[in-house]
Amino acid sequence: MTQSWTPNSWRNKPIRQVPAYPDPAKLAAMESKLASYPPLVFAGEARRLKAQLAAVQEGRAIVLQGGDCAEAFGDFTANIIRDTFRVLLQMAVVLTFGASLPVVKLGRMAGQFAKPRSSETETFGDDTFLTYRGDIINGPQFSSQSRTPDPQRMEMGYFQSAGTLNLLRAFASGGYADLHEVHRWNLGFVERSPLAARYSELSSRIDETLRFMTACGMTSENTREMRETDFYVSHEALLLPYEQAMTRVDSTSGDTYACSAHFLWIGDRTRQPDGAHVEFLRGVRNPLGIKVGPTTDPDELIRLIDILNPTDEAGRITLIARMGAEKVEKLLPPILRRVRQEGRKVAWLCDPMHGNTISTAAKVKTRNFDAILTEVRRFFDAHAAEGTWAGGVHIEMTGRQVTECVGGAHQLTEADLGDAYETFCDPRLNAEQSLELAFLVAEELKARRLPQTAVAAQ
Ligand code: PEP
Ligand code: CO
Repeated sequence: MTQSWTPNSWRNKPIRQVPAYPDPAKLAAMESKLASYPPLVFAGEARRLKAQLAAVQEGRAIVLQGGDCAEAFGDFTANIIRDTFRVLLQMAVVLTFGASLPVVKLGRMAGQFAKPRSSETETFGDDTFLTYRGDIINGPQFSSQSRTPDPQRMEMGYFQSAGTLNLLRAFASGGYADLHEVHRWNLGFVERSPLAARYSELSSRIDETLRFMTACGMTSENTREMRETDFYVSHEALLLPYEQAMTRVDSTSGDTYACSAHFLWIGDRTRQPDGAHVEFLRGVRNPLGIKVGPTTDPDELIRLIDILNPTDEAGRITLIARMGAEKVEKLLPPILRRVRQEGRKVAWLCDPMHGNTISTAAKVKTRNFDAILTEVRRFFDAHAAEGTWAGGVHIEMTGRQVTECVGGAHQLTEADLGDAYETFCDPRLNAEQSLELAFLVAEELKARRLPQTAVAAQ
């Protein structure tokens, strides 16, 4: 029988990846403070997103989820938020055109602060300190003081999320997201790209389509969809004391929602069915993601889906596969088959980042653009072969011209990585690489559209 759920029932379960705070009284005081603050999102918004994800699960829409591996307190500026938002919109336009379907836009933004790590501690020379776990927990500087978990950081995490979300909402509905403007930015990208010839065909077709729509009388002035967009935010639900403090009971439905973001996901390292993270998330009504990595066992995945979605509600579960380009062909099909055979309602996304992290000879973490693209292609192939719907992509990217991933049209090499390597966590695609990925995926989507639509309609 299912045990009853409360916002703190996770505290009785084994927990991974959440640090021990040295001062529990200070932690408890911060939790109470956050619990008294206004929610960052509303339950109704999370429900609307869930309905849109139900359309993805049914093959009627796709998702673009993207943003930093980890947001940082030092990166809290309007330009950084704007640039990432802009690239996501640019990518979404290209993907909408490629798929001929609506694209659900979901930022890894406004709360993506806490990181799972593979080791508890880090050693340099004679010093060993706790590992950096994201700005909402401790600091990246290598010192005992900076690495000590500090509950005060949660408040800054809350305020940065609120400020980011406020700007995103203003951009999404205040004219910045106008489709014509986004298309103009894409024309600029195509002009700059060494692969301009390849991308110009798609962009001229979008151009023509926009002119046709204007000729038919659909303008930014009279059509909301042309000048505004829906934009949702998401993060990994890792830091449970913070997440619990941000839960609120929705007055309309009486249900509990995690009001730190619209969509929360469970990481590959914290998806144990009997663990604390699964316990917490089973009781909140938001749409949820589950990372599906190379160690995912199909039986365990079905069990997990059933714990998190016992009524098989459409839009509740999005599975985010992150197998790696070399493993995806072998590991993904049996899982797709099993979930389909069991008849569970899920949407599927491809995270082509986390299975493709490599270390250079100089021990710099990077990812190869070609491996990322290969994993996306193989993900689409696997879905086509199983008759399931490839529902979109989940990527780590930024709107800035960082040099963290190698490859792409500008042919970034390992030697270039030092130029603008800014991430404290995983390497991100920069603006040009992200757009290029969108153009290449759009080409794939277009080429596959007819057969895939036929499969989904069966
Ligand atoms: C992440 O998305 O940043 C992450 C840590 O992913 P995963 O849990 O899949 O390793
Ligand atoms: Co990451």
